[in-house]
Amino acid sequence: MKTFEKLLLENKAWAQDMVLADPNFFSRLADVQKPEVLWIGCSDSRVPSEIVVNAQPGEIFVHRNIANQVITTDFNSLSVLQYAVDVLKVNHVIVCGHYNCGGIRASLKKQNPNLLMVNKWLKHIKDIYRLHEGELDALGSEDARVHRLVELNVIEQIYNLAHTSIIQGAWNQDRRPILHGWVYGLQDGIIKELISLPPGSQLSPIYEYADVA
Ligand code: CO
Repeated sequence: MKTFEKLLLENKAWAQDMVLADPNFFSRLADVQKPEVLWIGCSDSRVPSEIVVNAQPGEIFVHRNIANQVITTDFNSLSVLQYAVDVLKVNHVIVCGHYNCGGIRASLKKQNPNLLMVNKWLKHIKDIYRLHEGELDALGSEDARVHRLVELNVIEQIYNLAHTSIIQGAWNQDRRPILHGWVYGLQDGIIKELISLPPGSQLSPIYEYADVA
């Protein structure tokens, strides 16, 4: 059987199982979603957001990209953020990175001339490396540098979120959402919290909006 055929068959079996367990499952979810959480994660196939936190359909609004980044010129992540915060009114935004992230590892190498788009995406992580060059270069091995840069990247993305007009506006008007920076271990499946920014957290003044309506 081809891979995609297996996926379609598995889908039918899954849908049947869900209805057997709860006959109204799909009809209840079909018209409305009210997730409390936005998850921004890595596209890595080994870190499937709903599965690693045992969440059901309807619980988590998800955006995933290479190395779980929030970039101010990226309409994709920002439109997901705007919809989640302003329309769905989520109370929590989670950025979940993972150790041994291929995107982070690649960011510490020379740029790949065959992957020009990926280079541009990873450029932002090279900039995070440059911010923390002293700390990272003092680490003994490439693995140790990757490990720490995974963490620093998650923390940086939390600040990238806090620096958006979307988050600052919701903090001012609604006292939500809380921003959570997490990292997932591929070795043990365990998530560790690295940072949490509640509404109203102090930011560097140069990133504050002077007047958020
Ligand atoms: Co990754």
